[in-house]
Amino acid sequence: MTAILPHGGKLVNRIVTGEDREKLLVSAKELPKILINTWTISDLDLIGVGAFSPLEGFLNKEDYESVVHKMRLADGTVWSIPITLSVSEEQADQLEVSKRVALVGEQDGIVYGLLDVQSVYKVDQAVEARNVFKTEDTEHPGVAKLFERSPYYVGGPVQVLNRPQPERFGEFYFDPADTRRLFAEKGWRTVVGFQTRNPVHRAHEYIQKSAMEIVDALFLNPLVGETKSDDVPADVRMKSYLTLLENYYPADRTFLGVFPAAMRYAGPREAIFHAMVRKNYGCTHFIVGRDHAGVGDYYGTYEAQEIFLNFTPEELGISPLFFEHSFFCKTCGNMASSKTCPHPKESHLTLSGTKVRALLRDGVCPPPEFTRPEVAKVLIEGMSHQVII
Ligand code: ADX
Repeated sequence: MTAILPHGGKLVNRIVTGEDREKLLVSAKELPKILINTWTISDLDLIGVGAFSPLEGFLNKEDYESVVHKMRLADGTVWSIPITLSVSEEQADQLEVSKRVALVGEQDGIVYGLLDVQSVYKVDQAVEARNVFKTEDTEHPGVAKLFERSPYYVGGPVQVLNRPQPERFGEFYFDPADTRRLFAEKGWRTVVGFQTRNPVHRAHEYIQKSAMEIVDALFLNPLVGETKSDDVPADVRMKSYLTLLENYYPADRTFLGVFPAAMRYAGPREAIFHAMVRKNYGCTHFIVGRDHAGVGDYYGTYEAQEIFLNFTPEELGISPLFFEHSFFCKTCGNMASSKTCPHPKESHLTLSGTKVRALLRDGVCPPPEFTRPEVAKVLIEGMSHQVII
């Protein structure tokens, strides 16, 4: 085990196996059902394996209010994103506190888990949107998702009976207990976690490698759950990560494993959430660069770093590593940031995500100072098979 404690002190495990699981599956047939979508199945599973420790279930009313208003659970533990289960008004009317319900996949009918109802409550989604996303604008992908859901939530502890099965890249799915064990086996005492929903471009590589200079290893932990439709699809990204690691990273100091969560695009609040979750996976450090988990112009460039000042190092328990906006400087002849480069903007090579996607779609490699050619090749090949909006 790495020395770092999980968030809240212990790694939650709500996965039921063996005979107990068989019995619960039989009993589930008699229970009221709540249909859950892919996003909620992923939340349920991440609660189950302890990635969302100390959560043992979907937030009950008291914790929900506290998270939305104070970025803490009711007991004071830092928690910035409400992990909630939404049900229709009709269903909310029928649910009773202290009763058990089955959580069933809406597409496949699989009983993914059980929930013991602790509270059924109606929320003000506009307040949630303003506090969590800092906007009520439905152009924001996270806000749009929020308003699509019913405002009736049900909270309580869960038990996981079936786990979602990855269609591809199954060998890169690790539970927090696995990564903790593997990091320890490798003798790594300090591991920096890197969240991404994008291909790894030179700026990402630069900040990862800057961090690698001061810790034992890098945990490249791309998010592969639901993302917005114009983000590069996860399977194309996975190929690009493998190519990059093979060509440019030391194999004995890097570890690739996916983070099967949905992207919220909640910027600063999501940065805190991402850091807490990576602590659960056994990371001691976590990279927060420019506009972490941001979208459009909703957040200031460094707001996702500034938000960490609300908490003490002890209550965070993982060390955030902050990086300035990084770029290739033609005059320096290397990667840099405003902290290390004295040259004017004209010397800097910066390309917007939209511009890069357009180049790749047209089969054109971005400059090698922006993206490694091997990576660009994989992205061009992958994206030619996709309908990208
Ligand atoms: S995110 O939504 O998953 O945060 P992305 O994959 O683009 O988006 O970023 C991954 C991490 O790299 C984030 O911490 C982000 O702040 C950081 N980052 C991305 N681009 C740059 C850059 N040019 N300079 C500094 N940090 C960056």
